[in-house]
Amino acid sequence: MEHVIADPLGTRRVVVTGAGGQLGAALLEAFPDARGLTREQWDVTMPPSVEADLVLHAAAWTDVDGAESEPQEAAAVNVGGTQHVAELGVPLVYFSTDYVFDGRKREPYVESDGPNPLSVYGRTKLHGEAAAGEEAWIVRSSWLFGWTGRNFVRTMLDLGRERDEVAVVDDQRGSPTYVGHLAAATRELLDKPYGVWHLAADGECTWAELAEAVFEEAGIDCRVRRIAAAELGRPAPRPAYSVLRSERPGAPRLPHWREGLRACLARLLPD
Ligand SMILES: NC(=O)c1ccc[n+]([C@@H]2O[C@H](COP(=O)([O-])OP(=O)(O)OC[C@H]3O[C@@H](n4cnc5c(N)ncnc54)[C@H](OP(=O)(O)O)[C@@H]3O)[C@@H](O)[C@H]2O)c1
Repeated sequence: MEHVIADPLGTRRVVVTGAGGQLGAALLEAFPDARGLTREQWDVTMPPSVEADLVLHAAAWTDVDGAESEPQEAAAVNVGGTQHVAELGVPLVYFSTDYVFDGRKREPYVESDGPNPLSVYGRTKLHGEAAAGEEAWIVRSSWLFGWTGRNFVRTMLDLGRERDEVAVVDDQRGSPTYVGHLAAATRELLDKPYGVWHLAADGECTWAELAEAVFEEAGIDCRVRRIAAAELGRPAPRPAYSVLRSERPGAPRLPHWREGLRACLARLLPD
């Protein structure tokens, strides 16, 4: 559906859910007039009681492995919570994931590719897409990292300082995306039609390659031992390949993941 925001953003009441999360933090920087609501301020499993003209819905159950043993709780947040946001009856941005795909492709996933999630988390996020309704931008992104919260880049910085070697998965490929770049692209997206949009960093790599890049950029002397995901025995299966690209005209382009990594490290590391 074609849609152009008629009001300038400045006059709209923009609300960010999940403001305590890593993407929430980046959205609040990219939308300085937005009102950020943490889980304490709005637990989205509860019906809404906020005033808004636009919601950037970043609240989610993001514990991919935990969702396997607590599927109902994960669905209550990712599907029920999104329904509650949609009940406000205003445009919303719903953040979805590369984990809606099964990873059997060997070239980037585009918006018209059929989803087939492998995990409970992926299924709840896909159902959340449907729950977002018609007046929604469905933003699929991947492998997020930022300067707050728990993420792969911060974990590698910690481990790399403590150990000589870390074992990292080398049989999953994706597009690690810096939350600052995703938040900026989200701003651009508000001039575009509703619907599904793939917004992820340019380039692709494996987790092991990302770990090596973290150590290289941060000047940390730590070896990366490349392992198969199966060796970790994690509860939730992940797609082996989940690089995202947009096939839609005018789609916002994000910088390369390595540029995102440098931008993130510039905030995390002392000069
Ligand atoms: N992380 C990734 O690699 C990735 C990849 C693709 C897409 N995404 C999507 O991007 C969005 C943002 O992810 P993120 O990486 O910023 O995750 P995050 O750092 O885990 O942030 C999610 C936030 O949602 C909050 N939350 C959880 N349950 C809630 C509830 N019932 N009501 C209100 N808030 C609740 C969490 O609060 P607590 O800390 O209190 O739990 C947390 O602050 C999510 O939709 C996620 O599915 C993430």
